[in-house]
Amino acid sequence: MEKELNKAVLAQVNIPEDTAEIFAETAHRFEELMMMYQCAIQEVTTKLEVLNHEMSVRNNRNPIETIKYRIKKPKSIAEKLSRYGHKVSIESAFENLNDVAGVRVICSFIEDIYTISDMLTRQDDIRLVQIKDYIKNPKPNGYRSYHMIIEIPVFFSDHKQYMRVEVQIRTMAMDFWASLEHRVRYKNDISNTSEISERLKKCADIIAATDTEMQNIAEEINVL
Ligand code: GTP
Ligand code: MG
Repeated sequence: MEKELNKAVLAQVNIPEDTAEIFAETAHRFEELMMMYQCAIQEVTTKLEVLNHEMSVRNNRNPIETIKYRIKKPKSIAEKLSRYGHKVSIESAFENLNDVAGVRVICSFIEDIYTISDMLTRQDDIRLVQIKDYIKNPKPNGYRSYHMIIEIPVFFSDHKQYMRVEVQIRTMAMDFWASLEHRVRYKNDISNTSEISERLKKCADIIAATDTEMQNIAEEINVL
């Protein structure tokens, strides 16, 4: 009965039955892959929360200030795949993209960034795929952050699947800077772009000096 009704609806909007089936099937497979990335994010954030909890009890302070996460939108997935000359498909996204699942960890001090990344990558179920240390090697625009691509196993009902997750770790100050710089980058109605970039670069340098001095003070008064 339901099938008959669906057929009638499809006929009304002029969609061949097989096209509708392919659409529904593709949409379902996409939804499933996104669910798997969502689970990988859950696994990573739980690990980070455990580390933070343990350290708050042992050292009486939280190295992690905030954890944020996001799943890449379908439009951005397709756009990135074609930008890199890859096929735009669900399988291709899984194989070629490292940042469908993204977790951002915000810390108070630079030292916390290295503590957290070491503790996470030392865990024997985590595979480290790539590290980009934009704190030791800042980008020319002043961008600072510690990036890791990891693979984390997710246990589903009938199999274990390693999923890739991009983890960005940075201080609150670096995050503040990156948020504004990101907005500038995607705004195309700015006339004095090079002047803005110069001022942002100056801010990045001031922020880096402040992060270093804050850490020195914290070390000196023994709160780290
Ligand atoms: P994509 O930039 O994602 O194509 O990959 P990539 O291999 O160049 O990775 P990279 O580690 O350089 O950057 C990954 C992510 O870090 C970006 O998607 C941004 O979220 C962030 N990022 C990198 N560079 C900058 C920057 O200059 N400014 C800001 N605001 N964010 C940046
Ligand atoms: Mg990039």
